[in-house]
Amino acid sequence: MSIEFEKKFKGKKVFITGHTGFKGSWLTIWLQTIGAHIKGYALKPDKISLNNQIKGKLNIESVYADIRDRERLNKEINSFQPDYIFHLAAQPLVRESYITPVETFEINVMGTINLLDALKDLKKKCNVVIITTDKVYKNNETGKPFTEDNALGGHDPYSSSKAAAEIATESYRHSFFHPDKIIEHGKSIATARAGNVIGGGDFAKDRIFPDIFRALSNNEIIEVRNPNAIRPWQHVLDPLSGYLTLAIAMNNNQNKYASAYNFGPEIKDVRTVEELVQHAIKSWSNGKYKNTNPKNAPHEAGTLKLNIKKAKEELNWTPKWKSDLAIEKSIMWYKNSLDRKADIFGLCINDINDFKS
Ligand SMILES: NC(=O)c1ccc[n+]([C@@H]2O[C@H](COP(=O)([O-])OP(=O)(O)OC[C@H]3O[C@@H](n4cnc5c(N)ncnc54)[C@H](O)[C@@H]3O)[C@@H](O)[C@H]2O)c1
Repeated sequence: MSIEFEKKFKGKKVFITGHTGFKGSWLTIWLQTIGAHIKGYALKPDKISLNNQIKGKLNIESVYADIRDRERLNKEINSFQPDYIFHLAAQPLVRESYITPVETFEINVMGTINLLDALKDLKKKCNVVIITTDKVYKNNETGKPFTEDNALGGHDPYSSSKAAAEIATESYRHSFFHPDKIIEHGKSIATARAGNVIGGGDFAKDRIFPDIFRALSNNEIIEVRNPNAIRPWQHVLDPLSGYLTLAIAMNNNQNKYASAYNFGPEIKDVRTVEELVQHAIKSWSNGKYKNTNPKNAPHEAGTLKLNIKKAKEELNWTPKWKSDLAIEKSIMWYKNSLDRKADIFGLCINDINDFKS
């Protein structure tokens, strides 16, 4: 995989929503190291979060505001005049979406629409990547990898809110930012659908990798809810390299790439949750797990696989770290971060440099 995109962001203005989150923090670090001017827009970082750990090392403009605040978002985008936008701000948890469905739809759907609408006032060329998820597809559990033209759907509020964000993006692209009229409006808008992401610095509740780390570091037994569920696990740097590659391709040809792209591992590299846990324990060098089948647990998809042919053929993007290496890298990050003197920013930079080499 070429990481030619690196040079292209130097000196460019990049607006990142959700920059205080797990993926947003890694994206911010990566873009900062390659000389982009970054403005972030998100809620304040959680106390226990990667963003909080690296705050002192970030040299960016940071706005703490709600994505549902249409006027504020419009003002912050238009005063910055970005060349690129990465939209990651979201309520990203399936189980939380069963507890707060209305907020999940408001944040994930209206937040995306607010961002798209603000672009109408931006009078310059801009390439926009809207981050959704592999869960946007109507999942009949056939086990077949999803391609970008498969039907959208979503059982739980999180998945369907992201599918709705895809539909809203498609509508704005057709109604206001049609690729045929690119000369007039200058906006290229794509969506990126990535699978389950792991990597150091994720502390979200009810996500398997943070659960593994919390249990292992406290000498507790890891409780595994859905041992047989199959997910396209990837290290966070793999989908991020996809988003960056896509953005640069859009910049080079604004018509051609304004569509949806899957980013995930090779099909032979997908793993069950149980396999992920077993490999994590091996990498940590000790630990125990038990499979729990909580009664009345809310529905979660059984099998999720992505077909990544389009990203490979059109963008020349390929996944770099296989799932075993992604697990090992993530475990090492968490292990090293436990040292009280650990340089957390440095741990991320080391992973980024390894990824590039
Ligand atoms: N982590 C994964 O495995 C995964 C997989 C597929 C897709 N995604 C998508 O990637 C994106 C980032 O996910 P993450 O794992 O980093 O999540 P995260 O929870 O770590 O970060 C979410 C970010 O969104 C911001 N945010 C939430 N509500 C907001 C609001 N009302 N107004 C403004 N900002 C708000 C938070 O402040 C934070 O910066 C999300 O869009 C998510 O759906 C994540």
